[in-house]
Amino acid sequence: MLCITVEDFLFWKKKQLSKGGDQQSFAVLLDCIGGISTSDLTIISINPRGNLYLKKNLEFLESVWDDHLLKSCPIQYLCGITFWRDLKLKVTNKVLIPRPETELIVDIVFSKFQKKSEKLFFAELGTGSGAISIALALAYPLSQGIATDIDRDALEIATKNFINSSRQSNLKFYRGNWWSPLQGFKGKLDLAISNPPYIPRDTYEKLPKEVKKFEPKVALLGGEDGLKHIREIIQKAPLFLKENGWLILENHFDQSEKVKQLLINNQFTSIEILKDLSGIGRFTIGRYK
Ligand SMILES: C[S@@+](CC[C@H](N)C(=O)[O-])C[C@H]1O[C@@H](n2cnc3c(N)ncnc32)[C@H](O)[C@@H]1O
Repeated sequence: MLCITVEDFLFWKKKQLSKGGDQQSFAVLLDCIGGISTSDLTIISINPRGNLYLKKNLEFLESVWDDHLLKSCPIQYLCGITFWRDLKLKVTNKVLIPRPETELIVDIVFSKFQKKSEKLFFAELGTGSGAISIALALAYPLSQGIATDIDRDALEIATKNFINSSRQSNLKFYRGNWWSPLQGFKGKLDLAISNPPYIPRDTYEKLPKEVKKFEPKVALLGGEDGLKHIREIIQKAPLFLKENGWLILENHFDQSEKVKQLLINNQFTSIEILKDLSGIGRFTIGRYK
């Protein structure tokens, strides 16, 4: 641990932020590499006296910050870590950095399955870093979950994240195209969740370079109209869900009505479009019959 006065630290912090970047990314850097949490920052802003203890020296932290600014590489990839709900997850450029809006999927599940003692059988299609499945497996310890992805590297990271987050064994990881790893579980799921790639091709081409250059294309691009994967997931969902089982999907900001129609066409009921914190219809959910 390296000792530094709070005064020197705050001066250095101001200098770094004056070069560019945002507070949130800087907080990730300080927490993941410097060992200074957001609550430490709040405490020193109230009482800017005394000393602070850093895990790495300021020169090293500055070099990572400069790298982030120069290359527009997301700070989470440079640090190898992201925070999501109450999880600390390993991330590399093989997985999408789980987004804050996706955290709401877990709250939607909580609103539908209120008893944490429930023995849910759930599947997440396209797990990436494992964020959603791990949060659910921890919240419902008696549940059994299956998290799938087409990408081998993503599954490796998701598996490590589960092991690092828990001593539980109620989450398994399978590789394959959407429902194909679940052939043995037809008609058995209480719940299926997916945040699939849903960005239409023309929008994908115009994404900011920090997203397009660094985050995996397979996690983002949803075909020409963005709905390629959502269509496939909805069409096959009735084979795997129990009667009254829920399907919860995240979609692009303007896709909810189309996703709703796809659910109606595939015999789903109790369909709802749920908003994210910006008031966008980000989640479309329904029950199979
Ligand atoms: C938008 S990311 C979501 C990742 C994670 N669930 C989250 O919310 O942060 C979509 C994920 O779907 C996976 N994926 C893409 N195509 C797939 C396919 N055909 N079958 C299964 N998974 C797929 C990607 O590898 C990626 O991890």
